[in-house]
Amino acid sequence: MKRRPLLAGNWKMHKTVLEAYSLATEIEKCSAGLEDRDVILAPPFTAIHEVAKVLKDSCVEVAAQNVCWEEQGAFTGEISPEMLKSAGATAVIIGHSERRQIFHEDNEIINKRMKGALKFDLMPIFCIGETLEERESDKTFEVLEEQLRKGLTGIRSLEMKKTVLAYEPVWAIGTGKTATKEQAQEVHAFIRKLIAEMFEKDIADSVRILYGGSVKPDNVDELMAQPDIDGALVGGAALDAESFCRIINFI
Ligand code: PGA
Repeated sequence: MKRRPLLAGNWKMHKTVLEAYSLATEIEKCSAGLEDRDVILAPPFTAIHEVAKVLKDSCVEVAAQNVCWEEQGAFTGEISPEMLKSAGATAVIIGHSERRQIFHEDNEIINKRMKGALKFDLMPIFCIGETLEERESDKTFEVLEEQLRKGLTGIRSLEMKKTVLAYEPVWAIGTGKTATKEQAQEVHAFIRKLIAEMFEKDIADSVRILYGGSVKPDNVDELMAQPDIDGALVGGAALDAESFCRIINFI
């Protein structure tokens, strides 16, 4: 099945409003005419509105890097789905390994965030991935299965159709160490098989699974050529207009 490629840039905790404006402006230019793929930028919360304004007439969408499941209230430090939407976001990254590892977000909290995003019609980019220790002790598939089953608990088929998955091996994030295309393909195929078991085969066939972890201009083409890799979630290389432009123009 042919799935529409999706390239997303996760800016993490980088870029002031002014810097975000200029990076988004450059990406807007080099994304013109890309009709056969989707492009998303995920700036920090503070720059979402500005970036969305820059991209208003382009095909590039804006994502947040996290979301709360509540509509409003006493949740200091959190941002609601409606707030994100009103700022111009249409998607949100959920369960990124930095949220899991540094801020101790567990599968249960990530599941709540998934439900919050879906309830308010933000497209979730749901991240999973194993650590180096887990890979070396042969626990990769076990860990990914647990993250998928717990993170997607209670998600209905109709909602799953709106969800994007991202496989990001923790040992490959920001380390310059990419999973080989074979390693990534093996895991993506496993994830797709599990989604077929948990939901339906046609959902598994249509769900987009992104790869993330040191995606760069010089490895994007071979990763994107794998049958089960439908896109990339890019960190470091998304902060530089030239390299991100090359990535979104993958061949
Ligand atoms: P990286 O980050 O491309 O810098 O490895 C990817 C991510 O964390 O989404």
